[in-house]
Amino acid sequence: MTLNDNAANTHTTPPYVGSIAPHGGLLINRLLRGEMAAATYEMAQRLKPIVLSPMNVSDLELIAVGAYSPLTGFMGQADYYSVVHEMHLANGLPWTIPITLAVDSDTAEGIVEGQSVALAEPNPNGGLHLMAVMEVSEKYTYDKVVEAEKVYRTTEDAHPGVARLYAQGDVLLAGDIWVFDLPLAAKVEFPELRHTPAQTRRMFAQNGWQTIVGFQTRNPVHRAHEYIQKVALEIVDGLFLHPLVGETKADDIPADVRIASYQAILRDYYPPDRVLLGVFPAAMRYAGPREAIFHAIVRKNYGCTHFIVGRDHAGVGKYYGTYDAQLIFNEFDKDLIGITPLMFEHAFYCRKCEAIVTAKTCPHDRSEWVSLSGTQVREMLARGEMLPREFTRPEVSRVLIEGMKRKQGEDR
Ligand code: ADX
Repeated sequence: MTLNDNAANTHTTPPYVGSIAPHGGLLINRLLRGEMAAATYEMAQRLKPIVLSPMNVSDLELIAVGAYSPLTGFMGQADYYSVVHEMHLANGLPWTIPITLAVDSDTAEGIVEGQSVALAEPNPNGGLHLMAVMEVSEKYTYDKVVEAEKVYRTTEDAHPGVARLYAQGDVLLAGDIWVFDLPLAAKVEFPELRHTPAQTRRMFAQNGWQTIVGFQTRNPVHRAHEYIQKVALEIVDGLFLHPLVGETKADDIPADVRIASYQAILRDYYPPDRVLLGVFPAAMRYAGPREAIFHAIVRKNYGCTHFIVGRDHAGVGKYYGTYDAQLIFNEFDKDLIGITPLMFEHAFYCRKCEAIVTAKTCPHDRSEWVSLSGTQVREMLARGEMLPREFTRPEVSRVLIEGMKRKQGEDR
C-alpha cells in the first residue's frame, strides 16, 4: 500500500457537522488509525527522521485533526509566497500565517524532493517519538527578513515571533503529512479538554447551538475577558472558551495555571449549558493582526460562527496599534473569511459605573478606571498579594498566587 492509497481515506470526512463550513469546505483528517497507522509507523522507522521544533509539533497536531483545514501538510513555495505577500493561499483562500517546516542546511542537503521522511519529536525518556511520514514535495530557501516584515510588521528580534523565525533553519521542507501518532503532549497535557474540530462540531450540534462564539486567549481570565465573553454570548447560542496551550514566551503565565484560572470560576459564574472549555494546542506567534485572522479561521474549523477580537489581539510590546487586529478584517472578502468577527473596545472596571465598561459605554474620566499593567500584575502576584477584585475574581487571584509560588520554587 502506498501513502497515496492512504490519502484517499484520510483527506476528508464529508459531510461536516455543524452550522458553518470548514475553511475550503472540507474538514481535513490526516490522522491514520488501526492497520494504516501501524503500517505507516513501520515505514517511518526506516526513514530519515526530522526532529520538529515545539511549534512544528503543535502544527503537526493541528494539521492532523483538521484545525488547519484546508492544509494537508507543511506549505510549499507557492502557498508560502502567496501567504507572506498576499495573505491568501495560492488557491485564493485567506490565510495569513506561514505553516512551514524549517530545517538547517546540513539536514536539507541529505534530502531530495520526492523522498519520504519521518517526523519526530524528542522523547523525554530518551530517543525520538515518531509521529508521521511526510512526502517531501519541495525543498526551498526563503527570506526571513521579508517574512518578518510582512507577517510581524517588524524585523526586530526583540519581537518573540521574529526571534523564533530568525533562530530556525534556513531551508523549508514542504509536503503532505500522514500522522500515525499524535504528539506526546496531546496525551498528557489536558487530554480531556483537547477536543478536535470534529468533536467540537458534534458537541455544538448536540447542545443545539446554531451560533457559537470562539474566544482565543493566552492569559488567565480577568474581568474584562469575562465581560466581552458574556456580551458576545448575549447574541449567540454558545461560547467556546479556547485558551491556547502551545508554546508561549517565557514570561507568559504557564498554560496549566491559565486553564486552572478558568476552571476556578466556570462552575460558579458561567452557565454550563451555554459554555464549552477546550484547549487550543497552537504555538503563539504574537503576530497581532495577521494572527487574529488566523485565529478566526482556525476557530471556524472548530465550528465557531463568530470570533471575539478585542484590544491588541495576539499583540506583544508596542508593535501593533490597539485596534489593528480588528482593522485587518476590512482587507478581506467577508464571505471567504466565513466566520464573523465580534469586535470589542478596551474594557475596564469603572469605579463610578461600578461595572466593566469601555469608552463607548462610560462617560467618566479615565482616572475612575481600574487598570493594571502585566508587570504590575506579576509583581503583586510574586508578593502573594490578591489582585483588586474589580480586575480579577478572588478565585482566580488565588490560583495565580499558587501558580507563581510553584514557578518561583521551580526556578530556584
Ligand atoms: S491573545 O491571545 O489575544 O494574545 P489575551 O488573553 O491577551 O490573548 O486576549 C484574549 C482576547 O481578549 C483577545 O481578543 C483580546 O483582544 C481580548 N482582550 C484582552 N483584554 C481585553 C480588554 N481589557 N478589553 C477588551 N478586549 C480584551
